[in-house]
Amino acid sequence: MNRIQRIVVTSGPTREWIDPVRYISNASSGKMGYSIAKEFVMQGREVIYIHGGTDHQYSNLTGAKNIKIETTIQLRDMVIESITNDTLLVMAAAPADFRPIMIAEHKIKKEKSENSMEKKGLLLELEENPDILKQVSSFVQENNISNVIRVGFAAETEKLDAFAKEKLNRKGLQFIVGNYVGRSTGFGEVTSSLNVYNAQGLMKVIGPGSKDLLAQDLVKFLELNISGLTLEPQNKIPN
Ligand code: PMT
Repeated sequence: MNRIQRIVVTSGPTREWIDPVRYISNASSGKMGYSIAKEFVMQGREVIYIHGGTDHQYSNLTGAKNIKIETTIQLRDMVIESITNDTLLVMAAAPADFRPIMIAEHKIKKEKSENSMEKKGLLLELEENPDILKQVSSFVQENNISNVIRVGFAAETEKLDAFAKEKLNRKGLQFIVGNYVGRSTGFGEVTSSLNVYNAQGLMKVIGPGSKDLLAQDLVKFLELNISGLTLEPQNKIPN
């Protein structure tokens, strides 16, 4: 029997501001993470629900501790703060991978062109955001925190198996949940499917179905599969 005490679920997109009125983000609504967190609450678990700029209906989960964040760095900090011995982390959030190197203090104005035929644009310089899961794996190891089971998601437009397995290894995860995304796939209130992998390969295909049904099956799967898994701090992640 695993001694997991706390479930941390992240959900929704992060925002990286360009100027006071514009930001970089993505199409995540927060539905997937919310459905998973809700299912864990229904199982009587202690749940911390950390969410970005989700659609309104996924921004407050009754029965959970709700934490709202905006940027990827804030999400990283809140996840690390929420982790203690015997935690299951499910990272369903879609953090922005890049942020502007600086945020303009005032709204960026369109440049006036003397020649109306000449195209003007805006070049944005971006820097990479931290890889939250990778940093969590290192944090757990460096601080001797035991039994922190990390479940990532892989949102892909192609080669789901290969990319999901690569992310599982690179981020030092116990499980990764692969799903296809695109303009009309994966985000929001859609029917979807989840492929769950561990280090040995594909373990289960869940769906197709609504995200509420997917979440029910995923939570059942995790409850079952973490029961034989207790991680001590010496479980190494690749550098
Ligand atoms: O919110 P919905 O509209 O319901 O949509 C659900 C979803 C498609 C967003 C969700 O099912 C999903 O796939 N979430 C993960 C999105 C994502 O960021 O995938 P990724 O393949 O880019 O990242 C891999 C993993 O690393 C993810 O667990 C992600 O949370 C995490 N990550 C990403 C970037 C970053 N800087 N640090 C991270 O830890």
